[in-house]
Parts: sequence; C-alpha cells; structure tokens
Amino acid sequence: MSARAESIVVLTGAGISAESGIKTFRAADGLWENHPIDDVATPEGFERNPQLVYEFYNQRRQQLLSDPIKPNAAHSYLAKFEHEFPGKFLLVTQNVDNLHERAGSENLVHMHGELLKMRCLNSQLVFDIIENFNFDTNCRCCRSPGNLRPHIVWFGEMPFHMNKINQALESCDVFVAIGTSGNVYPASGFYQTAKIRRARTVELNLERTSSGFDEHIVGNASEIVPKYFENLLQAC
Ligand code: OAD
Repeated sequence: MSARAESIVVLTGAGISAESGIKTFRAADGLWENHPIDDVATPEGFERNPQLVYEFYNQRRQQLLSDPIKPNAAHSYLAKFEHEFPGKFLLVTQNVDNLHERAGSENLVHMHGELLKMRCLNSQLVFDIIENFNFDTNCRCCRSPGNLRPHIVWFGEMPFHMNKINQALESCDVFVAIGTSGNVYPASGFYQTAKIRRARTVELNLERTSSGFDEHIVGNASEIVPKYFENLLQAC
C-alpha cells in the first residue's frame, strides 16, 4: 500500500452491490436477470423490442426501490473514507443503482448511467424518475409520448464523464478497482491510465481477475473494503 496518498480514484462494479441483493452482470451463462445481454443492453435490442427493454429497466428500478435493497458496509465505508480523507477523491461507478449516494458518497460519477433517470431522445435532457415509464409516457419537455429512454449506457455507446475520469486517473497516486470483472472497456483500462503517473493499482474482488494490478485482495466487498480503506486512512 502507498503511504501518504494524496489523490485517489476508486472504480466500483456490480460486485460491490452483490451483497445488497443486486445481481452482478456477467454470470457464466451470459444472462442478466435471465435476459440475454444483447436484448436488454444494446441500442439494437431497444430498436428490436422497446417494450421488453422498458419493462426490464422498470423491473430493475422497482427492485432497487424495494425494501430489502440497502447499501452494505462497503458502500458505507467508502462514504466515510471520502469524508475523512484529506486528499483528493473521486468515486467512479459502473453501477446504475443509487447505493453509493444512499450511503453518503458525494464526489461520485455514474459512467454507465442511472436507473433512476430517463432521457429525452430529442433534447437529450435528463429527468429523475421513480415510476415505470414506456413508449406511451409523455415526455416532460416535448409533452408528447415516444421520446423517452432509460438513461443507461448500452454496449456500443460512449460512457459519461470521461474527461473528468481521465483527468483524475492521470493525476492519482492510488487507483482501486472494487467488484468489477474488467470485461468492459473503457473501465477495464483505467488501471493502465493510472499507471502513467506510476499510481499504485489495487484490485478488491471476490476473485482475482486477469488484469495487471500491483496488488490483489480477494474476498467479499463488505469485509475487504472497510479493512483496506481503514488502513489507507491510517497511513495518511
Ligand atoms: P460483472 O458482473 O462483470 O463482474 C462483477 C465482479 O464482481 C466479478 O469479478 C465478481 O467476481 C465480483 N464479485 C461478485 N460478488 C462480489 C462480492 N460480494 N464482493 C466483491 N466482488 C464480488 O460486473 P461489472 O464488472 O460491474 O455495463 O460489469 C461492467 C459492466 O458490464 C456493467 O456496468 C454493465 C455491464 O454490461 C453497462 O450496463 C453499460
């Protein structure tokens, strides 16, 4: 571990929310909640069968808002760390849930979008949403139906906030990836960008992935995240 870190970037993936009851993406069968990923996470899938895609994200949103889904100790400790760490801190999540915000994280970007937002296809304006919506829902800016889509980055689309993320990666001295399989570009290459300024790169995951991090810590996020970040705070 790097002593006296001054600037830290943390990347999170589905594994950090697994113990909160949200399924990860990349089960060996290539399905996400029993749907082929191509059907529910690509622009082509939305064009082929918009109703299926609306229903899929409506269900994910209602699941996220249901009682049993809550931030776990990993989300909570990251929020505590952000508030106590004296240096710069950016949390980049690939997750579309709101568990980091609910745990109290503030300097946070959702690079793959958010389940609790929808976007107008005409104006690109983004609106908060907790209800179900579909092709028949009136858009809040156009005042007519048919223009709304989930504010989710699908395969083949550009992730959000890339300038801010790259700037932080290029100037950080510690980069930590938590609960991500490293299968999806560009997030899978962040540790290499961080290494440009010789940042120490650390992976916290249930299993060791094939990426070339300097350090791998294996275990459940709710156990290893508080432990790792507590040590990092003590070293500051
Ligand atoms: P994946 O489902 O690909 O990987 C989840 C990782 O979390 C795996 O490496 C698991 O071993 C690990 N994991 C599971 N349970 C864990 C636990 N309790 N503690 C720690 N680690 C655990 O999810 P992502 O890497 O986040 O993109 O997937 C990246 C992107 O692919 C997603 O953001 C999504 C998807 O397609 C879009 O929707 C654009």
